[in-house]
Amino acid sequence: MVKKNACVFISGNGSNLKSLINHSREYNFPINIKLIICNKPHAKGILYAKKYSIPYIIVDTKKNNSENNILRKIKIYKISLICLAGYMKVLSKKFIKNFGKKIINIHPSLLPKFKGLNTFKRVIKKKEIKTGCTIHYVNEKLDSGNKILQKYFFVETNDNEKTLKHKTQKIEHKAFPEAIINIFRNT
Ligand code: GRF
Repeated sequence: MVKKNACVFISGNGSNLKSLINHSREYNFPINIKLIICNKPHAKGILYAKKYSIPYIIVDTKKNNSENNILRKIKIYKISLICLAGYMKVLSKKFIKNFGKKIINIHPSLLPKFKGLNTFKRVIKKKEIKTGCTIHYVNEKLDSGNKILQKYFFVETNDNEKTLKHKTQKIEHKAFPEAIINIFRNT
């Protein structure tokens, strides 16, 4: 199978990146991760780029031309899918248009519920019966593009922010690769 070239954007721990790298090493998985973009110089996730010898770029998003620099690199690596895996920066409308190919994001809630930050705190406060994660296409509005896949679990009475985060991430590591398989199933 001819795999597509993908780029993963991160800002933090990179546990989703790790899961995607592991899956991408399987023969039948539809993507190869060719490039990693990170906007935090000390992000733990960069360690996975190093460990698996995947080229990575640290970008300073405070600089005006940072998105153009990213686009230039992405062209060089012939990237046809961008996966946002905990990238804590909203991409501009111009970037999305200029890239012109698929961009997907993973969010730790059952969208359209709890867009934005502090999802676990809000899930507890709202006494939600269930919660989970969503993989969706990225458009210019935050956490609002078309859904690709959701996975959920039931919130237990003794759950807190920490346990919810742990449980959510556990299902994220399965859901993100599954969503990527779904995207390329018919191509
Ligand atoms: C994930 O929970 C994801 O849903 C959110 O950011 C978190 C990133 O975690 N967008 P990690 O860096 O992949 O461990």
